[in-house]
Amino acid sequence: MTAYSLLILPGDGIGPEVMAEVRKVIDWFQANRGMQFDVSEDLVGGAAYDAHGTPLTDATMARAQAVDAVLLGAVGGPAYDNLDFSVKPERGLLRLRKEMDLFANLRPAQCFDALADFSSLKREVVAGLDILIVRELTSGVYFGTPRGIQADDNPDNEGGRVGINTQRYTSGEIRRVARAAFELARKRSSRVCSMEKANVMESGILWREEVQWVHDHEYPDVELTHMYADNGAMQLVRRPQQFDVIVTDNLFGDILSDAAAMLTGSLGMLPSASLGAPAANGRPKAMYEPVHGSAPDIAGKALANPIACILSFAMALRYSWNEGAAADDLERAVETVLAQGVRTADLMGPEGGTPITTSEMGDRIVAALAAA
Ligand code: IPM
Ligand code: MG
Repeated sequence: MTAYSLLILPGDGIGPEVMAEVRKVIDWFQANRGMQFDVSEDLVGGAAYDAHGTPLTDATMARAQAVDAVLLGAVGGPAYDNLDFSVKPERGLLRLRKEMDLFANLRPAQCFDALADFSSLKREVVAGLDILIVRELTSGVYFGTPRGIQADDNPDNEGGRVGINTQRYTSGEIRRVARAAFELARKRSSRVCSMEKANVMESGILWREEVQWVHDHEYPDVELTHMYADNGAMQLVRRPQQFDVIVTDNLFGDILSDAAAMLTGSLGMLPSASLGAPAANGRPKAMYEPVHGSAPDIAGKALANPIACILSFAMALRYSWNEGAAADDLERAVETVLAQGVRTADLMGPEGGTPITTSEMGDRIVAALAAA
């Protein structure tokens, strides 16, 4: 039996703490489910900068290309805020996404019943919520050129500088992420809502036309609607249950997924998968990360919630190794623990209580796996 190869990049802030809990889960699956993982670990972000002067070395990049899946913790922190743009921790993450060509970023926002009262919205608006944002991840304004900060000799421009980024999408880039969204929708409620700003941006007009084209030619069975992204943001907090799959570009997806995340009660709960096209072995290039950031304010205090990272590993089981049953079990274990009232500090409601530590949460989830 060939082992599943996994590269762990814990990164900065709470990344290493939450990753330690995923290790416990991996160990459990190895010991109890006859799975074999070939796990290696490396540096990314500020941690890599401290050791090597770059947020991602070529050697680490090559290792990421060679494994079945990468699991990344988080990057960034105040210590790195004043670094030159080219070596900021985030550049490491963006390089991984770009060079692995991980164009489809899946960000599920699911409201666990036990947490429905933690949302900033009313329980009846979020209870049972289960939406999936598919964000284009390798193009758009994040990567478009020209870009930069330049001198501007226009005498009317006080300060004399201009900052430039370019929103650019090819039809092919839009079609491939649209296909990913339609495929996923077929396994869910078969509804896709595409979001852009076709009212002000040509790239938005192209986005709308190409998504419609893919729908009409290849997925006529899936219901497709279009929405301007600003209206989409409003609808997400007004009546989020109207959505099933949302497909959108890189920047809108970044913003809308943070809003959707908060509907579920805590950013500490949300996993993500970033997938490329299937390789020769049938597996897509893949990287999995919690949606939360490095949370430097709570790093090193045993306060972090490891669930987002553990659920990211569940997505790896499902999408990289086709271990859907194991992924279901792991997700159910998380649900069980939450239903038992087990809470990390981010999940403390107004009624208070005693939060458990990061490590205790990992132990409880493994215990729930074993008890199932
Ligand atoms: C995310 C993050 C990243 C992004 C940052 C850390 C570069 O906000 O994954 O949503 O903007 O894509
Ligand atoms: Mg973001």
